[in-house]
Amino acid sequence: MWHKWKEKFMCKFSKYIKYLQGIDRTIPMVNPKPSCRPTISYRPIQPSDLEILEQIHADLFPIRYEAEFFQNVVNGHDIVSWAAVDRSRPNGQSDELIGFVTARIVLAKESEIGDLLSYEPSKSDQTLIYILTLGVVESFRNLGIASALIREVIKYASSIPTCRGIYLHVISYNNAAIHLYKKMSFMCVRRLQGFYLINGQHYDSYLFVYYVNGGRSPCSPLELVTGTLNLMRNGLKSVFARLRKKEDRKVSKWGKCKETHCLISTTQSRRNLTTECTGYECV
Ligand SMILES: CC(C)(COP(=O)(O)OP(=O)(O)OC[C@H]1O[C@@H](n2cnc3c(N)ncnc32)[C@H](O)[C@@H]1OP(=O)(O)O)[C@@H](O)C(=O)NCCC(=O)NCCS
Repeated sequence: MWHKWKEKFMCKFSKYIKYLQGIDRTIPMVNPKPSCRPTISYRPIQPSDLEILEQIHADLFPIRYEAEFFQNVVNGHDIVSWAAVDRSRPNGQSDELIGFVTARIVLAKESEIGDLLSYEPSKSDQTLIYILTLGVVESFRNLGIASALIREVIKYASSIPTCRGIYLHVISYNNAAIHLYKKMSFMCVRRLQGFYLINGQHYDSYLFVYYVNGGRSPCSPLELVTGTLNLMRNGLKSVFARLRKKEDRKVSKWGKCKETHCLISTTQSRRNLTTECTGYECV
């Protein structure tokens, strides 16, 4: 009798341990939080996601998005999107959005970062992907879901021959997102003063870029170092030349030397918004 009870107990105990390890999902979940190992899969956003998509946007972002935006996302009008769902969720929730990224293809020459591309004016069909919104519901954060969504965007952008990069705006206090973009090797290229106007208060934004298909900045770090060294060398040459020609009282051209482009532009393209932000920018 004791032996049987022990066997039963051990069976239940090992089942529970398996459940905790995420191996056995036959025990019903009482906690709505994700199990330790959710089974995340990624798919395009579809019309049936409309309600939850609107709900999550309202929960996560300080700005309101227009109904037209959501319609465009779910119907794929001018917008590409990926949804993250947890296949291990019970009660018909296994296809419910727990994360998303939405993006739009824009013409490089019409974008605000055209000057940051190794741009060939002859190729006017060059494009960029602009990330509109990205979010993961709170209970599923720090599991790498946003990173995986961004990887989907990178894969997609890289598959378009005309695409030269991905860019986005992020509000300057959003440390989690800033950390994420840096981790994913996005480059912070600009700080835009007062870019967002939220509840009457202005906030700066950072502009991040990820280059694909050789669309790198005209000034790579190596070029920046080489450029600086060349500038110094030319400067010294010119100083010596100036000293040599001093008696002739000729003015050297050194004073007119200009630095070329800079990787991280310090130009602060001011985009003060006068009304509530109704654009689709990431915050
Ligand atoms: C930003 C956001 C999308 C990240 O989603 P996520 O699925 O948790 O992201 P990941 O798990 O892929 O990566 C999160 C990283 O941020 C780090 N992180 C989390 N909170 C952080 C914080 N407050 N400060 C700095 N880093 C933070 C994590 O440690 C992790 O980095 P690691 O892998 O180096 O440890 C999510 O927090 C979110 O939805 N926020 C609200 C909406 C939003 O801000 N969207 C972005 C608009 S541009």
